[in-house]
Order: sequence, then C-alpha cells, then structure tokens
Amino acid sequence: MILKTPEELAVMDRANAVVRQTLHLVAGAAKPGVSTKELDELAEEHIRSAGGRPAFKGYRGYPATLCTSVNDVIVHGIPSPTHRLREGDILGVDCGVVLDGFVGDSAVTVPIGEVPEEAKRLMRVTKECLELAVDVVRPGRRLTDVGAVIQGHAEAAGYSVVRELVGHGIGRAMHEDPQVYNFGPGGRGPELRPGLVLAIEPMINAGKPGVSFDDDGWTARTEDGKLSAHFEYSVAVTENGPWVLGVDGR
Ligand code: MF3
Ligand code: CO
Repeated sequence: MILKTPEELAVMDRANAVVRQTLHLVAGAAKPGVSTKELDELAEEHIRSAGGRPAFKGYRGYPATLCTSVNDVIVHGIPSPTHRLREGDILGVDCGVVLDGFVGDSAVTVPIGEVPEEAKRLMRVTKECLELAVDVVRPGRRLTDVGAVIQGHAEAAGYSVVRELVGHGIGRAMHEDPQVYNFGPGGRGPELRPGLVLAIEPMINAGKPGVSFDDDGWTARTEDGKLSAHFEYSVAVTENGPWVLGVDGR
C-alpha cells in the first residue's frame, strides 16, 4: 500500500475537485432527451479546460471520459450518441481525472426528471452506505470494516451488494492496492494508516446481487434487470479522520 505525503494529498484533493466539478456540471445537464455522449463531451471539455485529462479514456481500451450507467446498468456504461435519457431514469456518472500526476475518481447517481419513490430510496440508501463507509476511514480501523458497514446498511434496507466489482487504493495509478470490498466481515485486513487513499464505491442492487456483462466487455448490469445505484469518493486517511478529497476542502 502506497502512503501519500501531505503535499501529494493536496494534489489529489485538486484532482478530485475537478472530478466533483465535472460531476456537478454533468448532473445539471442530465435531462430527458440528452444523450450520454453529449454528457461525455461536456465532461471532457471541462476536465481539459481545468488543466487535467480524463483518467478512464484509454484505460484498458475504455473509449470515453465518463461511465454513464442507466437504470439496471451497475457501472461502466459507455456513453453513446444514440442513448438518450428518459424521464424517470436513474443515471450513474463515474469520472476520473489525472492532474499533476495523480488520479481523482468519484461517482454519483442522479435522477432524470421525476423518478419513482423506490428509485429515490435506492439512491439515498446507496449514498448513505458510502457516507457510513467514509466514517470508517480513520487510523486504527481495519480495511474490511469498510465493506462490513456497507453490506450491513444495504441489506438492512432490503438491497443487495454487488460482489464482482470492488473499490481500490488510488494515487499515481487509478488502481492501487488494496482492493476495497463492499461486503464481508469487518475487523480484518490491514489497519488504516495516515496517507492511505481509498476509492470507496458501493454498488447496490434493488434486487439480487448477480451481474451480467454486455458483449462490449464493459457494461455491467443486474442479472435480474432491477435498478442499481453507485456512489464513489476518493478518501484519504488522516490523523484527524477521513478527508473526502475534492469535497471536504482544507
Ligand atoms: N471508478 C471506476 C473504477 O475505479 C471507473 C473505471 S472505468 C474504466 O474502476 F473504464 F476506466 F475502467
Ligand atoms: Co473507482
């Protein structure tokens, strides 16, 4: 596990601030009739104008700046000029930015127009899973405590946790050790230490946990066709507790 210096964390905070601005911009533009490709272009333009570059584009051949994941798509939906958003959809937007050599990675799920109550509840509970997980990111806590709180909260609400995809350490590379599971017993794995940065990204399904992958090799959807939601923060461990990069300031 690579620990970052305070100076490096400051750079990662700036990279994540660009990610969060981009997510805000995209969320504001995500309306019925807009294509996911249009959102991708908006995102890339903003990232480049902020002096960064998209982290996902070219990563293992991934073709876009954003992942845009609609309804039963869990994560890694590829933006498309022919996929137009519709009233009542939920849209996961995942964005990565490289700035001054460090990667920022964060995601939100947002409603398109008015969405059913059940969709709102899924988004709310998934965001709560992330917030509870953030609170674990303190010196002395153990790595698997993150997944334990996520699973506990999701399942108490009647939802299920995706098993095939996980969070990750992050720094100069988008994916560093350790893997961050969203499920499993707590109290195991390494102790969290100041300077460690984790991208925590619960993926919560309204129905069963099973995943199926499209022929494009990326798009991950629920096997049962029910809704899924995804939120992600890059979070640094500090002496004083969690620092949600690009969000908390300092
Ligand atoms: N947040 C995701 C991850 O950390 C996004 C990666 S999309 C990819 O894995 F295309 F870049 F792989
Ligand atoms: Co990630």
